[in-house]
Amino acid sequence: MTNKPIENNFQEQKILLVDDDPSLLKLLSVRLQATGLEVKTAESASQAIALIPSYHPQLVITDLRMEEMDGLELFNFLQKKYPTLPVIILTAHGTIKEAVSATRQGVFGFLTKPIDSHELLELINKALELNKHVSSDPQTEKGAFWRENIITRSTIMENLLSEVQHVAHSEVSVFIHGESGTGKELIAKAIHKASSRKNEEFVAVNCSAIPEELLESELFGHCKGAFSGASANRKGLFEVADGGSLFLDEIGDMPLSFQVKLLRVLQEGEIRPVGTNKSINVDVRIISASHQDLKQLASEERFRMDLYYRLNVVTLSLPRLTERLEDIPLLAKHFITNNDFKVQPIAKGLSSEAMELLIAYSWPGNVRQFKNVIEHVCTFATTPLIPVSLVEKALQEKQISLPSFNDAKKNFERDYLVKLLQLANGNVTEAARLAKRNRTEFYRLLNRHELKAAQFKTL
Ligand SMILES: Nc1ncnc2c1ncn2[C@@H]1O[C@H](COP(=O)(O)OP(=O)(O)OP(=O)(O)O)[C@@H](O)[C@H]1O
Ligand SMILES: [Mg+2]
Repeated sequence: MTNKPIENNFQEQKILLVDDDPSLLKLLSVRLQATGLEVKTAESASQAIALIPSYHPQLVITDLRMEEMDGLELFNFLQKKYPTLPVIILTAHGTIKEAVSATRQGVFGFLTKPIDSHELLELINKALELNKHVSSDPQTEKGAFWRENIITRSTIMENLLSEVQHVAHSEVSVFIHGESGTGKELIAKAIHKASSRKNEEFVAVNCSAIPEELLESELFGHCKGAFSGASANRKGLFEVADGGSLFLDEIGDMPLSFQVKLLRVLQEGEIRPVGTNKSINVDVRIISASHQDLKQLASEERFRMDLYYRLNVVTLSLPRLTERLEDIPLLAKHFITNNDFKVQPIAKGLSSEAMELLIAYSWPGNVRQFKNVIEHVCTFATTPLIPVSLVEKALQEKQISLPSFNDAKKNFERDYLVKLLQLANGNVTEAARLAKRNRTEFYRLLNRHELKAAQFKTL
């Protein structure tokens, strides 16, 4: 216990105290009000729930044992309705087991009565600091449907979400930078949903997954007969996204030769489908993303500097999962309860050792990998609390199942060749032309992957 003076820095912060013992409520509220906090009290969970919509507290402090609905049940209710509203639980009957179970479920803190004022104020300070950008005002929450899929209580993420809201109201081009699996696409969608374009299309294109020679027709469209295989007119993704937003994912992998065409479209606001002379006006908001450092690529002349400036009026940087460890319990709970399993899993939560392991892990694949691991352990869990051994096993398997860089490259090359041969109907000259390789080189590639062009000929 520390005895340093309590700082009075809580002006205009609202707390809701819930306890079925009126004398304790009175005592605590007087103590808290003395620090500048605004305090309202409720003698039951249902009274608290009724107060929140008009009071909009930034923090709820509740007793654990209460008639009708206890503190944990109140927390569960609040977490669904106001996911970012922190809850501190107090109890006279505190056991370590209950505290672990409560914090595992995402309760902000757990204190045992008699309450140590310093400890309580420190915890309140932490909770308010972490949530200073968040409003529990239901009006704002409703207006915040754009961020409903983004689960976080991290200050870095909350700052980022304020930027998202800010840029969404303008038309500037946004570049999202972040490691694989950090939520780049989720943020791109949030920008779209928070913007005035929200009722129009959001179209995502993965620039690294489309072969260079197909990018132009994918993005700008083509007319019938424009190239072999173009059996009908086809709208490009720019036209599909007209009035809405186009998300160019992994933009750093876009070939230089295509970057110049994209730049022209962005400057002129019109596209020309392959095989036509007709230009079509498009009104599209561009959001781009990459795990690579575009500026670095541009300085190495692997990305056009002019396109870099055009795309990158504002950069949003996503933190790694290990930079937002406070989100791990929240995300775990979210992925355990919100899943697409046909049969609801038995697992309802994680054992404390399992949670510790998840917090200590390095997460190279960030939230995407975390989600996969949680879904994996949920599938195999036969008990309500997922044991640490299952998590250990899942983490090992994930590492083993990740191919090496060389293997991944080889697989990609083979899939690409197969796609080319299918497109060219087994005609090597045509396939080599599409790949911009000469025939000898192309045959060498086919041999390396033991592919026979003849197998792709349709009769
Ligand atoms: N804060 C979050 N809350 C809930 N789910 C999240 C969050 N961040 C990421 N996810 C989930 O993690 C997965 C990966 O997110 P997303 O596809 O947006 O990441 P990414 O950075 O585009 O990944 P990649 O680099 O692999 O393309 C998705 O299933 C997404 O819904
Ligand atoms: Mg992505």
